[in-house]
Amino acid sequence: MRNTWVIGNWKMNGDLAANAALLKDIVAASFSGSANLAVCVPFPYLAQAQQALAGSRVLLGAQDVSQFEQGAYTGEVSAKMLKDFGVALVLVGHSERRSLFADIDEVVAAKAWAALTAGLTPVVCVGETLEEREAGQAKTVVLNQLKAVADVVGAQGLTKCVLAYEPVWAIGTGRTASPEQAQEVHGWLRVALADMAVAQIGILYGGSVKASNAADIFNQADVDGGLIGGASLVASEFLSIAAAA
Ligand code: G3H
Repeated sequence: MRNTWVIGNWKMNGDLAANAALLKDIVAASFSGSANLAVCVPFPYLAQAQQALAGSRVLLGAQDVSQFEQGAYTGEVSAKMLKDFGVALVLVGHSERRSLFADIDEVVAAKAWAALTAGLTPVVCVGETLEEREAGQAKTVVLNQLKAVADVVGAQGLTKCVLAYEPVWAIGTGRTASPEQAQEVHGWLRVALADMAVAQIGILYGGSVKASNAADIFNQADVDGGLIGGASLVASEFLSIAAAA
């Protein structure tokens, strides 16, 4: 049995008051479904979220991590620092990092390695742009992104990762991949993982997931839950999505 996950990615949203209310509502719901739950909060709010989530089953996540261990890297946050705040998992290679902050494949792989070395679970994000999809390159793109990480962390490292397929054209656009489109890509990823003898890792779908479409997507054979952006900022919506996983 593969684990299922519903992970909220707050992106650069929130403030102390809004976070307190959101975290309180999520924790108070005492979610009893089978999915593993996590929220990836902005760095300044890690301590706040750590405290609010203490004793709950909701894991704390971060949205990025430095590829470097420590030293003269102004503005960077190391995996060890994240561990200090009880972080369990960290996103690497989110498309917004890839497109806006030059996180190329090699950097994503180095970040996954840094996370693993510190005992964090990397949530490795892959996904094609609309142009790449329309040019028939979706499969090549996502498999190359996976390979770049696999080349560095190896099969053994990959077994400790979670994978997230996020078509760039579906992120924050309201345009969700159809369940069949999601399954097709997840199937390619599953085969590639099986070829590396990596059997049990979860592959999440991300991109405009809402309470109203989550069940259809999560019901696909190779979809093991979701990475949720906008909808994770509303407790009732996030919890309904979690219940669908
Ligand atoms: O990390 C989350 C994804 O970017 C999806 O964001 O649910 O707002 O489309 P979204």
